[in-house]
Amino acid sequence: MHFAEQASPDRPVFTAAASSQTPMPDAPIFKLSTAAAELSPASALRARHVRSFVLRAGRTTKGQERALVELGPRFIVPYSIHEPDWDAVFGRQAPRILEVGFGMGEATAQIAQAHPDRDFIGVEVHTPGVGAMLLRIETLGLSNQRIVQHDAVDVLRHMVAPSSLGGVHVYFPDPWHKKRHHKRRLIQLGFVDLLCSRLEPGGYLHCATDWEPYAQHMLEVLSANPNLMNTANGFAPRPAWRPPSKFEQRGLRLGHGVWDLLFVRRAAPALKPS
Ligand SMILES: C[S@@+](CC[C@H](N)C(=O)[O-])C[C@H]1O[C@@H](n2cnc3c(N)ncnc32)[C@H](O)[C@@H]1O
Repeated sequence: MHFAEQASPDRPVFTAAASSQTPMPDAPIFKLSTAAAELSPASALRARHVRSFVLRAGRTTKGQERALVELGPRFIVPYSIHEPDWDAVFGRQAPRILEVGFGMGEATAQIAQAHPDRDFIGVEVHTPGVGAMLLRIETLGLSNQRIVQHDAVDVLRHMVAPSSLGGVHVYFPDPWHKKRHHKRRLIQLGFVDLLCSRLEPGGYLHCATDWEPYAQHMLEVLSANPNLMNTANGFAPRPAWRPPSKFEQRGLRLGHGVWDLLFVRRAAPALKPS
C-alpha cells in the first residue's frame, strides 16, 4: 500500500529534475536486460530477525539535538508498517540506494553529495548518529538524503517494496567478534535473502568490513545466495566512490585490513535443481 506524503512547511516536496539514471563512476552499472522476476515475498519474510545492535545511551551534542528538532521533521521518514510513497518523499523519481547502519554518516553524506542523481535512504538506530547525519545534510545542502531511525530489518520488510532498490550499502556492520554473538551479525542467509528481494534486477549489494573472519563469512553467505552474482573473483577492489568512514579509519589505525564485497542481483531467480 502506498500513501503519499503531503507537502507541508515541515516536509516540503522537493522539485529536483528527474534522474538521468547515470551510474556512479566506476560503480555498479549492472543493468540486466531480462524482465524483473520477483523473489517470493514469503522467502523475504522468512528472513530471521537478528537483533544486530545494542542501543547505547550515547550522548547527543547540543548541535545534534537542534538538528533532530529542526531538521528531523523534514529529513527523517517515520518508521511505518506501510511503504511510503518514496517518489513523493524525495520529490522525484530516481534510483534509490539504501544504507544499513550509517553510524555518524560521514561516508554516507559524501556519497550522497557526489551522486545528486540518486536518492539515498539511510537507516540507523543510534540517535547521536542520526543527529550527526542531519547536521551533514544541512551543511552540505543535501536534498537526496533521508533517514529512517529504526531496525533496518523491519524497514526493509515493511517500507521497501520488492525489486525497488538500485543498490544497498552495508559498510562496517558490527563484527560481533565472540562466537556466541555471531548470531547477531547482520549478514546472515535470511537477511541477505531479504536484501536481495528488495534489489531490482541488476541492483547491487556492496558490503565492507575490517574484520577478516567476518569478511570470509560475508563472502560465503553472499556467494551462497543463488540470486546474487559476485562482480569480482572473491573480494572486490574498493571502489573509488566509497570514502573511508569513521569506523573504518579507526580499524586502519589499529592495523586492520579492509575487505569490500560487490554483488549484483541476477535478472531472474536462479532455478533450483529438481
Ligand atoms: C560498526 S558501526 C559502522 C557505522 C558506519 N557504517 C561506519 O562505517 O562508520 C555499525 C552501525 O550499524 C548500526 N546498526 C546495526 N544494526 C542495525 C540495524 N539492524 N538497523 C539499523 N542500524 C543498525 C549501529 O547502530 C551502528 O551505528
